[in-house]
Amino acid sequence: MNKKHVFNAGPCILPQAALDASIEAIKDFKGTGVSLLCISHRTKEWDATMDECRALWKELLHIPDDYEVIFLGGGASLEFLCVAMNFLEKKAAYLDTGVWASKALKEAKAFGEAYAIASSKDKNYTYIPKGYEIPTDLDYFHITTNNTIYGTEIKTDIDCPVPLIADMSSDILSRPVDVSKYAMIYGGAQKNAGPAGVAFAIIRKDALGKVTRHLPTMIDYRTHIDKLSMFNTPPVFPIFVMNETLKWLKGIGGVEAMHKINLRKAQTLYDEIDRNSLFVGTAVPEDRSIMNICFVMAPGREDLQDEFLAFSKERGMVGLKGHRSVGGFRASVYNACTQEDVDALVACMQEFEKLHK
Ligand SMILES: Cc1ncc(COP(=O)(O)O)c(C=O)c1O
Repeated sequence: MNKKHVFNAGPCILPQAALDASIEAIKDFKGTGVSLLCISHRTKEWDATMDECRALWKELLHIPDDYEVIFLGGGASLEFLCVAMNFLEKKAAYLDTGVWASKALKEAKAFGEAYAIASSKDKNYTYIPKGYEIPTDLDYFHITTNNTIYGTEIKTDIDCPVPLIADMSSDILSRPVDVSKYAMIYGGAQKNAGPAGVAFAIIRKDALGKVTRHLPTMIDYRTHIDKLSMFNTPPVFPIFVMNETLKWLKGIGGVEAMHKINLRKAQTLYDEIDRNSLFVGTAVPEDRSIMNICFVMAPGREDLQDEFLAFSKERGMVGLKGHRSVGGFRASVYNACTQEDVDALVACMQEFEKLHK
């Protein structure tokens, strides 16, 4: 079998070291003689994994002491609802940068006045709206920093006069973040942080407890903070793999070193898209994501789309088909995707161009 280059949008490629450690732990968790899949979560060995994982998040993102990191089931989609229940008393604004942002807003509307302050829907979300003013009477302002489907990204931590809440599902741990600018950062783990099955939330503790509604125990973030994410049975296997993924990230020099690697990978691919006569990028250049790189066939060459998908598949490329709402191709170049994977894709695009010039 030829080598696969995995560009899946999530679940996606994970570091080989994390996969190897997980395979070993399924056979024997930390020398206990019991598989990771069969251990009790009420053991000192498991406590140590949870502690290590929490500590790595704090270390890698330089999370200030007044924040806590929690691990939750239900994915980012459940957090759309929990965010609103925990923070929305009267009014919140959302930046509408795509389907995930719209879904988050839809959930919030059930709990108070929630609206889109600006939207890039007019151009199928190919840019990040700018020039809007954030009112000071909001309970919070919600952004989606990386728009997985459209390949746009808010690459800097914005100044916000009200609590800022960010869905960072698809760019967390890809670049340094000033956590102190956010009341909460959350996301599904299944891109840079680990496999599917667990969500993460980084919450400034004093931002909680401001709503008057009754919060069911499992919805109340304070439950999970107080119980160190062990109020109920945690998703043991995904958290284990997450911990191994974070250990790998620390080993390569942390988020700062990863960011440099990611910038180079993204630049390599965008340069080829801009150079190659057969392809064009879909996101406006200044808002291009360094995680999800979206492109289509150049005008007049659309008939080659299926042929390129088959051609690239033969050369080991996996997961290049774009989301149905954008079409074309999407290369998700998350942390564990290597420069070698990107170079292989570029070589494939060049070879295809030679065939069709
Ligand atoms: C930016 C973003 N937010 C939210 C989600 C939804 O995540 P989940 O499937 O964990 O609910 C996704 C999924 O791809 C995403 O990319």
